[in-house]
Amino acid sequence: RNFKRQIECRSDIDRLNASFLAIYESLIPAEEEKAKQKQLLTLLEKLVGKEWPEARLYLYGSCANSFGVLKSDIDVCLAIEVADNKKSEVLLKLADILQSDNLQNVQALTRARVPIVKLMDPVTGISCDICINNLLAVVNTKLLRDYAQIDVRLRQLAFIVKHWAKSRGVNETYQGTLSSYAYVLMCIHFLQQRRPAILPCLQGMERTYAVTVDNVECAYFDRVEKLGDFGCHNRESIAQLVWAFFNYWAYCHDYANDVISVRTGSIISKRSKDWTRRIGNDRHLICIEDPFEIRHDLGRVVDKYSIKVLREEFERAAEIMQYDPNPCATLLEPYIP
Ligand code: CTP
Ligand code: MG
Repeated sequence: RNFKRQIECRSDIDRLNASFLAIYESLIPAEEEKAKQKQLLTLLEKLVGKEWPEARLYLYGSCANSFGVLKSDIDVCLAIEVADNKKSEVLLKLADILQSDNLQNVQALTRARVPIVKLMDPVTGISCDICINNLLAVVNTKLLRDYAQIDVRLRQLAFIVKHWAKSRGVNETYQGTLSSYAYVLMCIHFLQQRRPAILPCLQGMERTYAVTVDNVECAYFDRVEKLGDFGCHNRESIAQLVWAFFNYWAYCHDYANDVISVRTGSIISKRSKDWTRRIGNDRHLICIEDPFEIRHDLGRVVDKYSIKVLREEFERAAEIMQYDPNPCATLLEPYIP
């Protein structure tokens, strides 16, 4: 298969690129939205600081990793010294404090897999989830943000892929498809593997940033501004990369044996990780290694039914990119059950 086969001439490629870039541009959050998020964070810092002067608040997830599209909610992590079995008390207390300050829809979900307090700020209209001590998420948020600064094509590709996944209903972890975090890692890995590479492997370079969180050592090269124009030897356009991304997941990935690993910048084997059989609910049908919690397979939510759904969607996308006369629109058509 070949990208050029479908795209007959230069002007077709240019037109397709322009369409993808227009979608990307239309998804970028406005500065004004960022300012509102800051404003809400400042309010939360004030309220939390009164009760727990030592505590800190961090933004994580799409509001801070540069992969957030417009109108996103924000994810906040409260870093506080508290025993694990006292987290619920802190969450309930926090909910009380927020409620008395007129924040709306305040709810403490203490029994969730990741316990949180939810709220909506009537002033900015922004909704927010606050979790406790999920510092690995804060660190992996920084890693994603650092990667995004190296080459703009990562952010472009990830926006398109996330938009596609949401439109096609395959961004629902509770239904066995993948998280946005997993999709961004798939994009990073993909760009690390292009030849010439578009992204380096930051965890394989000199360690300029190192922290230990929950007994996990997180270290990598974070002076990304020093990398100059790293990907400049690769001139592939966004249209070509979208084509190749879906082609890879539809026809080239070895689902039986391979794990994609941003940490190593390469493919590693399921055997080397002992991910060859099902243990409990971990079926390892599509394997995406978390860059820091390396025992975590972000594909663990995928089951024998949803792997089919996912792979059919990858194939649909690849076919559209290959043959559809107007691939951009068809690719992102909502899935209607
Ligand atoms: N996260 C994680 N491990 C997971 C899933 C998520 O550490 N298995 C953390 C990551 O820091 C991620 C954040 O939680 O950035 C939010 O995850 P997710 O909602 O999947 O991604 P968002 O970037 O917030 O995407 P969306 O725009 O869809 O909200
Ligand atoms: Mg999110």
